[in-house]
Amino acid sequence: MELYEAIYKRRVVRDFKDLIVPDEILKRIINAGLQAPSHDHLRNWEFVILKDRQDKEKALQFIKKGTEPQLEILKRTLVNGTVQQKMYAIAMPRQYSMLMNSSHVILPFFKSTSAVLKPNCVSSLNPISSIWCVIENIFLASTAEGLACSMRIPVGEEGKNVAAVIGAPQDYLLPCYIGLGYPANDKPEVEQVQYAVEQKMHFGKW
Ligand SMILES: Cc1cc2nc3c(=O)[nH]c(=O)nc-3n(C[C@H](O)[C@H](O)[C@H](O)COP(=O)(O)O)c2cc1C
Repeated sequence: MELYEAIYKRRVVRDFKDLIVPDEILKRIINAGLQAPSHDHLRNWEFVILKDRQDKEKALQFIKKGTEPQLEILKRTLVNGTVQQKMYAIAMPRQYSMLMNSSHVILPFFKSTSAVLKPNCVSSLNPISSIWCVIENIFLASTAEGLACSMRIPVGEEGKNVAAVIGAPQDYLLPCYIGLGYPANDKPEVEQVQYAVEQKMHFGKW
């Protein structure tokens, strides 16, 4: 698939077919992640990949509790049915299933202390910024392979808890969970906000 086509086709998908992604494809996707720009030049990233149900259950156990407060927020905010609220209505109930029912859960770790979570300027966020370049490469490569990804950001202590159960070193942080798989045929189409690019371009001054 051509690069621009992958960019335009990429969507977060939360419903997957019951099909396993072959190892060769998985390797290509992770390797695409590894090509991302790195603030420290060292590409201090590691990927924990979970395929077996038991391993997934162990790592995802902290999500169930986490989604209950979010469902409460959802009930309160879902009054007007804006595009954003409609997305939440689809996303929130699927936070566990979109990872559990994926072919593989990818846990991308980046090396950093928790000081990165108390930034005092934009550059203090560099380790997080770099891993998000990795994540986008993974998303685009997955799309190019005819696959798709779900993504969840760990809430509160969730990331630390996941890191502990899978045995990650303490100086590695988890920015998100990624579920990789073949998109289900009957997945809901989440409306996207579209802009004319001219609206967003400011030449010379804002
Ligand atoms: C930083 C970031 C955090 C996100 N957190 C979540 C999340 O916790 N759960 C989820 O289901 N989707 C999450 N998403 C996915 C967004 O909901 C999704 O990208 C957005 O609705 C736009 O849809 P699209 O990616 O299909 O274009 C996140 C995306 C980003 C970039």
